[in-house]
Amino acid sequence: MDEPNDVLRTEHEAIELLLAAVEGMAARLHSGAAFPRRDLEKAMTVVTEFADRCHHAKEEKVLFPVLTKASPAGAEISRRLMSDHKAFRKLVGSTKELIPKGEADPKARASLAKNLDTYTRVLREHILIENTDLFQEVERSLTEAQRAEIAREFERVEEEEIGPGVHEKYHDMIHRLADAYAV
Ligand SMILES: [Fe+2]
Ligand SMILES: [Fe+2]
Repeated sequence: MDEPNDVLRTEHEAIELLLAAVEGMAARLHSGAAFPRRDLEKAMTVVTEFADRCHHAKEEKVLFPVLTKASPAGAEISRRLMSDHKAFRKLVGSTKELIPKGEADPKARASLAKNLDTYTRVLREHILIENTDLFQEVERSLTEAQRAEIAREFERVEEEEIGPGVHEKYHDMIHRLADAYAV
């Protein structure tokens, strides 16, 4: 049986690799190097399609509702993580708007670099809380049958949100971006 924690942990590793690439892009923006517009756009596509539509959707649509019913501690941590996801969506929205402006405007470029720094920092903190507190609560308060059902639902979300096989395409994009930018 797939454990939901294992599925999410593996996706966290991919997202952390993406964040290493984003961090490298922000460093280039701070340093005044050439503006990597297409790769910035690619990274933001992966953020929206993989980190949000695939990964956060599994947490929000499947795991958090079950955990919220299972225990007060589960409800509390789900509420907190869900509000993080909302804040990330807002930050990613304004970051995407800054990309076309940042190419010619130094002020927009500096704001873009700052947004990328913030996104990297807050998402790493979020993942750390999930890898520790969230996963502990899943193990503590959900039965084996509940966890098996969640793992099945994760597959359904994946097919509905991004379609079968698309996951691999994003993993390839992440690896290419990390090879080019991660320091
Ligand atoms: Fe999350
Ligand atoms: Fe997560």
